[in-house]
Formats: sequence, structure tokens, C-alpha cells
Amino acid sequence: MCGIVGYIGNQQAQPILLDGLSRLEYRGYDSAGIAVMDGSAIHLMKAKGRLQNLVDRLEGSPLQGTIGIGHTRWATHGEPSDLNAHPHTDMRGSIALVHNGIIENHEQLRAELVAQGCQFVSQTDTEVIVHLLNRLYSGDMLSALRQAAAVLEGSYALCVLNIDEPDVLYCTRKDSPLVVGLSRDAQYVASDIPALLHHTREVELLEDKEIAVLRRDSAVIYDPYGRQRALKPIHVDWDVEAAEKGGYPHFMVKEIHEEPASLSKTFTAHVDTNTMTLRQDAFPFTEEEAKSLATLTIVACGTAYHAGVIGKYVIEKLARLPVTVDVASEFRYRDPIMGPGDLFLAISQSGETADTLAAMREASRLGAKVMALTNVVGSSIARLAGDNVLYTYAGPEIAVASTKAYITQIEMMVLLAVDLALKRGTIAAEEAKALLTAMTDIPDKAEALLTDCEDDIQRFSSRYFDKKHVFYIGRGLDYALAMEASLKLKEVSYIMSEAYAAGELKHGTIALIEPGTLVCALVTQAALADKTLSNVREVKSRGAKALVICTESLAERCGKEADELWTVPDAPDALLPLLAIIPVQLLAYSMAVSRGCDVDKPRNLAKSVTVE
Ligand code: AGP
Repeated sequence: MCGIVGYIGNQQAQPILLDGLSRLEYRGYDSAGIAVMDGSAIHLMKAKGRLQNLVDRLEGSPLQGTIGIGHTRWATHGEPSDLNAHPHTDMRGSIALVHNGIIENHEQLRAELVAQGCQFVSQTDTEVIVHLLNRLYSGDMLSALRQAAAVLEGSYALCVLNIDEPDVLYCTRKDSPLVVGLSRDAQYVASDIPALLHHTREVELLEDKEIAVLRRDSAVIYDPYGRQRALKPIHVDWDVEAAEKGGYPHFMVKEIHEEPASLSKTFTAHVDTNTMTLRQDAFPFTEEEAKSLATLTIVACGTAYHAGVIGKYVIEKLARLPVTVDVASEFRYRDPIMGPGDLFLAISQSGETADTLAAMREASRLGAKVMALTNVVGSSIARLAGDNVLYTYAGPEIAVASTKAYITQIEMMVLLAVDLALKRGTIAAEEAKALLTAMTDIPDKAEALLTDCEDDIQRFSSRYFDKKHVFYIGRGLDYALAMEASLKLKEVSYIMSEAYAAGELKHGTIALIEPGTLVCALVTQAALADKTLSNVREVKSRGAKALVICTESLAERCGKEADELWTVPDAPDALLPLLAIIPVQLLAYSMAVSRGCDVDKPRNLAKSVTVE
């Protein structure tokens, strides 16, 4: 949730740290701070609020030194304040560290450390780590870190400065991501790859409880048993521009415009477009395994969960395999019934979501075959899934609100459904080929839709942006999409919104409909259109304003009921969410802009939720 950066090299550290933090600010942003070491002392500067406040404080009195650490904080223990901001130091100011994660036994440790004479200045769980290191350090920081790892419970990614070693930067992690960026004469650390891309593309992923010892010209990594291990850097080929706004006013709208490209990239990674068949090695199960599956459980959080709900509809329809979809924070504590013969799929854009990781561990413990779908190579979730990992190719997603990652997740749900269906013999090869062929048209249709619908959506938002609440309704796949449409609107525009299965409204929620209530009906599934349209009539007769989003071929029928009608190109049913999601994402964006919201960094949210 928080962002970490670290640098050791020959240049001044401060500008590099601030630049890295600006690229991570989306992870958490209620305060920020840096510590820079110049050989004789560790210099600190922290500021509550946005990174700009820290930048302003540093103007005129920059911190000098070529080694440093930085942090943007999303408060978990203690209010956002200068004192609670990281870095934290021991009482002598000789050790400084930044931390991402939560120390679960911090109360007990704090009591023990206070009894030993430590004076705490913040309310954070993090401060226990630095006092603990001070107690454990007797000239060997590596040993102190190892001993601390045995005591600390919970999750952490740490970057540590030690005044006794002005040319060394230490870092370590457990259940919280941390990557080391390697170069010839400087080393970098960050909690997320985009912060490093301007400096290096050679990235070393730290494993749990490993410790990296970084010097200007070397990086040495020790495994949890203290043995030095060989470096195995991965080369990151993400386009640097993909992590920049490129002329768009916000990352969110830029990332929506990148959806056609993300769809194409993900498709060609899994489908041989010459034969229009799935690549042999695209999905990690044999025909025999697919046939013998008893159930599939999909577990995820937020938007990724909504992709799982789409997966349920498509996989059950095509592969005739019973699918359960659960939110990870519920799954992990409900004593799930699962075992060998069951397939478990975790979906996560970031690959770092704490609840999803814990749910995966639970499914493994129960003996299920565990797979993951993620956007980030080398992420914790990808590593936990081992060989059973599927990737989306959306590229780095910076806006907190997930858009292009979601669309590729639902694309992968369709591809997974086709693979399972073929292996289980529930669809013919020709049917699969026809669907895959139709999928090749989706990026162009999405591109055309993006060009066509933006003006209408802006005009609409300027009329409706002051609505207090909005309902999204739909049936089948449209209901699954309505859930995501509603979440998107809530998180970026702060408008209270509900998604309802259209047929369920009259069982209670219709009581909330009053003159002027905005109801957005998704009507893309031809077989269900009349049913949903009758629900639209029900809300309209109670005064609601109806925005209907339908396919071109349903436009005439829907136009009779709608106060406002937007259309998406026709496509096979299973592919329509890939198009209908575009106007609802743009609507959320446009409403948020009209309301003056901080679109890319909505209040209280963080991009990567690495705490429970
Ligand atoms: C998306 O717009 C949200 N910010 C959030 O719901 C997100 O999808 C959720 O936290 C899961 O994240 P993940 O995909 O990185 O696991």
C-alpha cells in the first residue's frame, strides 16, 4: 500500500528518491519522507499530505548524500502526520528505515522495548523495528536483520540505512513486495517496478526473508539461511511511457485508451492467430485433468473479483464446470470445502493482494490445484502459483482504479473457458475457432467505440454529475458487468452506487427509486433483453431516468425505453462485456472529472492492498 524507494550510487540521492516516490505515489499518499546519508549523519525530512509538501520542504535546504531511502505512507497504525511518516530512526539517529506492511506483534514488542528504555516518538508499528534493530545490532547489520526476522510477526518490506556503514544499503522483505534494480555503478530498490524503469530494466526479485546488501557497484543477496545466492535478474520490457501520462490528463483515461492494445497483446500471447487455436502451452492442464475436474473456485478482491464473476458465467456456459466465485477475505476464513480434484484460480492485477495470497495458501493446504492470473511477472501471487500462472499483458497500470487490467482479465476468462471446454469436450473445435476469430475483431471494435462514445459521455456527465446515487442493473453477464460499473463509479467519483440483478430490484430495492433517480441498464444479451427492458419500464414508471447501454442490433428495442441510449458494436454474447465495459468505465471517469475528484488517486484507496 505504501511505496518504498532506495538508492545507492554516485549521484545525489534526493532527486532520485523524489522521482521514484512520485512514480509510486499511487500506492499510498497520506504522508511522505526521505532519509539521506552523507557519511557523517543521516538526514531526514518528512511531511504530512501529498509528496509536493515534502518537495516544498526540501526546496532551499536539500539533503546531501549519495545513498538514501524514501517512502509514501498509507496510514494503518497512527494518523497521517509528520511524526508518523517514514523514515523512522532509533533514538541515536544512527539507523533509519522505511517499512511497508504490518507488524502484527508490535504491541508486545513495543512494551518490551519500552521496558528496556526505548522512547517511541510515533504511533506506528514500524518504529518497533528500528528500535529492535538498534538492540540487536552489535557491529553486524546482516545478523541484526536476521535476528529481527525471527522476532517480527506480520509482513514487511524494509530498506535500512546504518550510519556505521555509509556505503551500504540493506533491504529485506516478507509477504510484502520489494525489488532491486541493478546497474553497473548504482543500485536501486522499490516496492514496485515502475519506480525503477527510468534507471534500469534489470530487476532482481527478493524472496521472503532474503536480505540484499547493496553497494554502489554490487548487489549481494543472502537467502534466509544466510547463504549467498546467485543473482537471477529478470529483464523488464515494459515501455517507460506506459508508466507516464503521455499527454492524457489522467492515467485512468490513458489506460482506458490502451485497452485495445492490451487486449491484442494478451490475445496473441495465448492464441496462435494463424491456426486460430489456443497455444499448446497456454493453459496448465491436460485433457485428462480438465475432464476430471470437479469444481473451479475463483477467488479475488474488488475489480478482479468482478472479472471472476464474468468467468463464472462464461466457464459454466462453455465448459459445463461448476464455478464458485468468492472474495478472498471471505474465502480464507470460511473453512472452505475443497480438495484434490478441485481447481482454484486467484485473480489479481498486482499479484500482491494480501487476502488473495492468503486464500491461495489456504487452497494449497487443502490440496486443490492452485492457479493464478496476474498482470505482474514475478509478483508474490505469480511465484506462489509456480508453473500454474497465467498472465494478462495489460502493461503497468498506474491509476488506482483498475481498467485495462480488468478488461484483459475478462478476456482471459473467455480464453480459459474455451480451453476447458475443448479439453472437456463440451464444445466443438469449430465453435471454439469461430469464437476466437470473433475475438480478433474486438480490439478494433473497442478502438472505434472509444472514438465514438467519449463526447456523448462527457455531455451526459455534465448533466448528471451531481446525482447522489446511481443504480446499475443487468441480467447474466450484464449483471456481472454492472457490479464492476458500479464499483468504478463509486471509487473515482464518490457517488453512492448499487449494482442489482435487474430481476431482483422489485424484491426490495425498488423502494429507493424516486423521481430523477439515475438507473443505468446494461442490455447486451439478446436473449435477456426483453426481461431487462421490462425492469427498465418498472423503474421509469416510478420516475427514474434510464440510461440504457445496448448492442447496435438491440438499439431499436431499447431506444423505446431509454431516456439516453448508448450502443456498442455487436459481437458474440461471451465477448460483449469486453465492449460494454468501455462506456461504463468512461462514464465513471467523466463523472469524477466533472465533480473535481482526484481521479487517479481516489481518497482512502491504494493501488496494491498488501494488508488485510
Ligand atoms: C480496482 O479498481 C480497485 N482499486 C480494487 O478493487 C482492486 O481491484 C482490488 O484491490 C484487487 O487488486 P488486485 O487485482 O491487485 O489483487
